Parts: sequence; structure tokens; C-alpha cells
Amino acid sequence: MAESYRVAILGATGAVGTELLELLEQRKFPLASLKLLASARSAGRTLSFQGESLPVEALDEKAFDDIDIVLASAGGSTSREWAPKAVAAGAVVIDNSSAFRMEPAVPLVVPEVNPQAASSHQGIIANPNCTTILMAVAIYPLHQVQPIRRVVAATYQSASGAGARAMEEVKVQAQAILNGQEPVTELFPYPLAFNLFPHNTKLNPQGYCEEEMKMVNETRKIFSAPNLRVTATCVRVPVLRAHSEAINLEFDQPFGAARAKEILSQAPGVKVVEDWQANYFPMPIDASGQDDVLVGRIRQDISHPYGLELWLCGDQIRKGAALNAIQIAELLVSNNWVKPLVPAETQV
Ligand code: A2P
Repeated sequence: MAESYRVAILGATGAVGTELLELLEQRKFPLASLKLLASARSAGRTLSFQGESLPVEALDEKAFDDIDIVLASAGGSTSREWAPKAVAAGAVVIDNSSAFRMEPAVPLVVPEVNPQAASSHQGIIANPNCTTILMAVAIYPLHQVQPIRRVVAATYQSASGAGARAMEEVKVQAQAILNGQEPVTELFPYPLAFNLFPHNTKLNPQGYCEEEMKMVNETRKIFSAPNLRVTATCVRVPVLRAHSEAINLEFDQPFGAARAKEILSQAPGVKVVEDWQANYFPMPIDASGQDDVLVGRIRQDISHPYGLELWLCGDQIRKGAALNAIQIAELLVSNNWVKPLVPAETQV
């Protein structure tokens, strides 16, 4: 008998939350019930699911009493406060925030890379940083064949990484500039429309921002490669949705570009997009709304005999966040790593 699960989306009204809702429907996740949680600001709103209007409820102490799986995407401070309460109430939390990612007892999972790690969860499983997920999916298949020694990444990150309101802010700024007015900044520190700036997270004493250190530390944890050398420069660009990354990989012997292309053509979650004649390669507009990470411009690094260059674009909200979280939930369900409590007859 197929089992079904009582699921809650925490942050259901946000950019990732609405995508989670869509993916649960599209992927026919075995639901016994679905609860939509957000802040008190959103209580009373409804969201559409399977042709029905579901109410959005304000988060409160009883919110997780009848829940098996929580898909949380309401920011780090909300997760820090509420994820332990959800676990205490008997739920498994798949958390999209950075709150628990580097805690040793919390698995940090990209299903194409380290699915087995999810089996050891103690109630919380962390969904990695979006930029890190996209890179991990693209480079792990090569790392499996020949260990990567060093990664040098430069990112071109869209507004969607900062949430639904940030996407709106860029549109409003663009409109203002086109109307000859000064752009207004609220969420971002500087105008993003017709501009770009280094990622505006906190800088450490070495001059790296938090986003860059997430790429370093989370990649090491996901790959179980604590000594992997990773450096990154993260930049916010005026793209609404889907991140791009230029990645240089160094191996300890040559890795032919043709072989890399062949491996990536068969890799799960990757789609090679290359038309060298037409100079057509992955672009954020093509990656938007897609599940796969688009990879192209796979070429020998002319500055290093053991170096390989590639370019990728991936939908930050989808594979970078919501899809990865749903895939983790699917892993739990298919391997019986979450205890189902409700029989299939009550499926919605
Ligand atoms: P709300 O819409 O009520 O503010 P995004 O990442 O797109 O900004 O979305 C953040 C999500 O997290 C939204 O659904 C937001 O709800 C929710 N959220 C933010 N703060 C809280 C909180 N303190 N309690 C519950 N949900 C929250």
C-alpha cells in the first residue's frame, strides 16, 4: 500500500514557497494533507493547489502538531526558532535556510550527489545554498571520475535569490530609470537594475562574503571532501531569475573537454547546451523554469594543462531551492526514511 504524508510549507507565500506548491502538484507528491504557513501578514490569503483554494495560516505553536514533513523556506531566523519545535512535534524538516547547514549532525543534501546522507537525519535536513547546489550538480560527475583539486568560481546571481520582493524591486527600479527617475532601493543596498554589485552578504576578515564562504564550506561538506580547495567571487546581476556561474576546475592530471562533455551529457540533473557554431550556450532565460542545470562552454583551460573551464545556468528557485527540497522529500519517502503516519485512502 502506498503511503501518504501530511506536509506543511513554511513560507508558502514566498518565491520558493510558491514554487514548492507548484512542484508538489506537478510531481504528484503523495500527500495526505497540505498546510500552508506564513507570517501573520499573510493569514487569510489563499493559494491555489490542484484547482482548489487553500488558506494560508499564520505560524503558531500548534502549527506542526499533525505534520510529517515540513518544507521550510521562511528565512534563517524563522527556521532557527521553529524547526526544532517542528521536530519536537514529530515532523522532519527540510530546511532551505542556512541556519543548520554546517551543523555536523545535520545532513546537507543534493540528491544527485549525496542522497545517502539523508538517511542519517535526526529531524532536520538542510537544503544547500542555491549557487552551491547548481555547481555541485554540474561538477560532481567529473569529480567522481577524477578528483577535483581546486575550484575557482565566479557567479552571476539573479534577484530571485533574495526573494519575491527583491525581484519586484528590480522591476520597479528598471521602470523608474526608464522613466528618467531615481531608482529606489529597499531590500538591496544599491540599485540592481542596469547595474551589478558584489554579493552584499557580510564580509569576513579575509575579504570573502558569506555567499562565497557557503560555496566553499558547503561544497566540501556535500562532497565529503574537507580539503577541496574552493574560491569564489559572487556577484548580484540584474537578472530576474536563474543564476549563472563561470567555473574553472583543476585536476591532478589532464581531463579532456570531450570526455567531460560526454560524462556531463549523461549526468543526472544536467543538460549540456552547446552550439559552438552558433555561439549558443546556457543563458538564464533558458534555464528559468527548468529542472536541469544547463552546462556549456566546456573547454580546456589554456592557462593550465590540468584545467577545465565550464559555464552553467540554473534556476535558483527551482533546482537551487524548491526542487532540491522536494527531491529530498521524495528520497525520504521512497526509502522510508520518514515515518508515514497516514494511510493512502486519505490522500487529497
Ligand atoms: P509573508 O509573505 O507572510 O511575509 P521570500 O523569500 O520570497 O521573501 O519569502 C519569505 C517567506 O517566509 C514568505 O512566505 C514569508 O511570509 C515567510 N516568513 C517570513 N518571516 C516569517 C515569520 N516570522 N513567520 C512565518 N513566515 C515568515
